[in-house]
Amino acid sequence: MIVTTKKLFELAYGHYAVGAYNINNLEQAMGLFRGNLDSEAPFIIQISRGARKYTDKRMLEGVIRAAEEVFPEAVYAVHLDHGDLDACLDCISSGFYSSVMIDASHEPFEDNVRITKRVVDAAHAEGIVVEAELGQLGGVEEDVAVDEAAANLTDPEQAADFVERTGCDSLAVAIGTSHGAYKFSGKQGLRFDVLAEIQKKLSGFPLVMHGSSSVPPEEVERINAAGGRLAGARGVNEDEFARAVPLGVTKVNIDTDGRLVWCRVHREYFRDQPDKFDLRGPGEIFMKAYADFIAHKNEKLGSAGRLAEVRAALR
Ligand code: G3H
Ligand code: 13P
Ligand code: ZN
Repeated sequence: MIVTTKKLFELAYGHYAVGAYNINNLEQAMGLFRGNLDSEAPFIIQISRGARKYTDKRMLEGVIRAAEEVFPEAVYAVHLDHGDLDACLDCISSGFYSSVMIDASHEPFEDNVRITKRVVDAAHAEGIVVEAELGQLGGVEEDVAVDEAAANLTDPEQAADFVERTGCDSLAVAIGTSHGAYKFSGKQGLRFDVLAEIQKKLSGFPLVMHGSSSVPPEEVERINAAGGRLAGARGVNEDEFARAVPLGVTKVNIDTDGRLVWCRVHREYFRDQPDKFDLRGPGEIFMKAYADFIAHKNEKLGSAGRLAEVRAALR
């Protein structure tokens, strides 16, 4: 059942965070649905602009439509990740997405307000909800590169003003994370002090944490042992999700960790079986490994075991 993120957030706020997982292909879709059903969790499927272009947006959307039939018990939102104005308007008119993210966070504040408001007006007219972003994460996200040193955390005062003026339904906040596998080089970590200030100004309003992959050292070691070269990769301590939830974090975005699972499975498979060339061998291992990974993340987010209550509330 496809629902809006707003519905999921109403049920989750303050109790757990909903996992928002990026997918690009069929095998990820299978692992994603299986992992969420194995752990009995509601979830969010995220499709980035890059994922829409990877094959053809209709291919990935077609896979998700098929999954709705294959996994009728699943409860999830279909969400555009890091959209620009054009992508948001396209998804809003498609009738398929239940939620879009407009990311104009790299624009000056007033432009961010104006662009976001335009998307909110168009989306709300169709019953679709909107995530917006204020502040900038470090690292690289699609075509917007942000110098980590200049990473610009969300200003709590500005956040309240932004939400009021745009009417957005949730807000992605910059609290020290960044996208990708190289999040922290020194002693940095999540800025819970900034998050607490934002929540004070936006009590009860769902906040979103991007760049939340944990980049597990054991995963990186296995990749490197199988020929990879990921030196110094580091992520968010996943035990910190539980600390972020009472501070308003209701959606946690995870992409990189799933890519690491894919990379590890395929590197090990072909290292250990150099005579093999069939894609289904590693594909089957990956779907199972990805499902296990999703179930594990949902335990850490507290969303595991919530599916029955979510279904009951939606009835
Ligand atoms: O925030 C970025 C997400 O990880 C999506 O990555 O744009 O390479 O699909 P992508
Ligand atoms: P990671 O790169 O930490 O997985 O973040 C993903 C993300 O924020 C997608 O929007
Ligand atoms: Zn992101």
